[in-house]
Amino acid sequence: MDYMNLDKYPAKPFKIKSVEPMNMISREEREKAMEEAGYNTFNLKSRDCYIDLLTDSGTNAMSDKQWAGMMMGDEAYAGSENWIYLEKTIKDIFGFKHVIPTHQGRGAENILSTIAIKPGQIVPGNMYFTTTRYHQEKNGATFMDVVRDEAHDAGLNIPFKGNIDVSKIEKIIEEHGADKIAYIQLAVTVNLAGGQPVSMQNMRDVRALADKHGIKIFYDATRCVENAFFIKEQEEGYADKTIKEIVLEMFSYADGTTMSGKKDGIVNMGGFLAMNDDDLFGEAKEIVVVYEGMPSYGGMTGRDMQAIAIGFQEAMQYEYIEHRIKQIRYLGDRLLEAGVPIIEPVGGHAVFLDARRFCPHLDQEQYPAQSLAASLYIDSGVRSMERGIVSAGRDVKTGENHRPALETVRLTIPRRVYTYKHMDVVADSVINLFKHKEDIRPLEFVYEPKQLRFFTAKFKYADK
Ligand SMILES: Cc1ncc(COP(=O)(O)O)c(C=O)c1O
Repeated sequence: MDYMNLDKYPAKPFKIKSVEPMNMISREEREKAMEEAGYNTFNLKSRDCYIDLLTDSGTNAMSDKQWAGMMMGDEAYAGSENWIYLEKTIKDIFGFKHVIPTHQGRGAENILSTIAIKPGQIVPGNMYFTTTRYHQEKNGATFMDVVRDEAHDAGLNIPFKGNIDVSKIEKIIEEHGADKIAYIQLAVTVNLAGGQPVSMQNMRDVRALADKHGIKIFYDATRCVENAFFIKEQEEGYADKTIKEIVLEMFSYADGTTMSGKKDGIVNMGGFLAMNDDDLFGEAKEIVVVYEGMPSYGGMTGRDMQAIAIGFQEAMQYEYIEHRIKQIRYLGDRLLEAGVPIIEPVGGHAVFLDARRFCPHLDQEQYPAQSLAASLYIDSGVRSMERGIVSAGRDVKTGENHRPALETVRLTIPRRVYTYKHMDVVADSVINLFKHKEDIRPLEFVYEPKQLRFFTAKFKYADK
């Protein structure tokens, strides 16, 4: 590997001012901790994890400017200075007319699904996301996957695997009628496809189709900065544009968006819902006070709002996002070099192990990705997350397991937290496991929650 190539694997574009010690417990202790956690990495204690790649959500390291901003929290119940600053920042970066703050992304999803869905309607989207689909279904909608077929093929290395297949939406319109569609959901990037981006051309195409039929489009902006990097790197005509210019153009094709600020906002908490429509805004304002708080804080403290406003601005810096994407690619390259099956190309926030090819001796109903994540933790204290049949849950109508084509373990990289050497520790452990892959054992549920089961479910080994 060309480890010293700084174009391919750039150094961190920041210095470290404050550090947090890491803790490594013994293998016996990890085995016990995993058994007690019911073979679910969500149930582990943070102190028992060495390198924590459970998620990139809210696990980011804030900058000196963000910490300084937190001292400027105006904790007024209404009309906080920090809200005025955050609202201005969001309008400047995303270009929407109205903004509603929320405590995190799912708060925005709750409000949007409540105001924009009538029972019996359909929401076509580029692959489901767990909490997003939950809110859509809770409000009586059926989610229909319209991501291009290639997104379901883990080993296929093509750009913009997160694109919507416009013909799939046309088919839904033909069969059900445009008025049956609540709105089109377009996620940038597509988390469960491996953090795969959507091209600007695809966003234009979806806009044209939506305009033709009078349908609204709402984005899930959660990882939009990562998406913008891929557009700049790989789409013709964007190499000389700034990340900020690209983000603004992306959202010019949307009627609104939900946002989990815990990812590309580079903070630990926060989110928002934004839109152009005055009437929908009025309705959203009525709901936000019920579930989140005043329309001038929506579940965030003043200091949270200051930190996220600064975080959005820092995320527009090219060197920041270039380093982030390329550090993740480094981990992917190390695994590919050793023949470990992963989702290709490597996306914007994580490397996804392809548990189908990693554990061909296990059936999907034996939860191979869940078991692989448990084994990785036991091997090295690296915490990852299942993104396969357990996360997909059950069909609300039939009660059967959804069986997603992608059965994966997500190694999610927090922003500005770990070094290349940490990536080496992770790669070495995964490669070691791959050499002994037959030892990864089948699991069965001992506790299965009805909703969003992956968060708190418990399992035991099914072969003893
Ligand atoms: C694509 C996507 N959408 C929505 C959400 C929900 O955001 P939050 O965790 O802030 O509620 C997440 C979080 O993991 C996500 O990855």
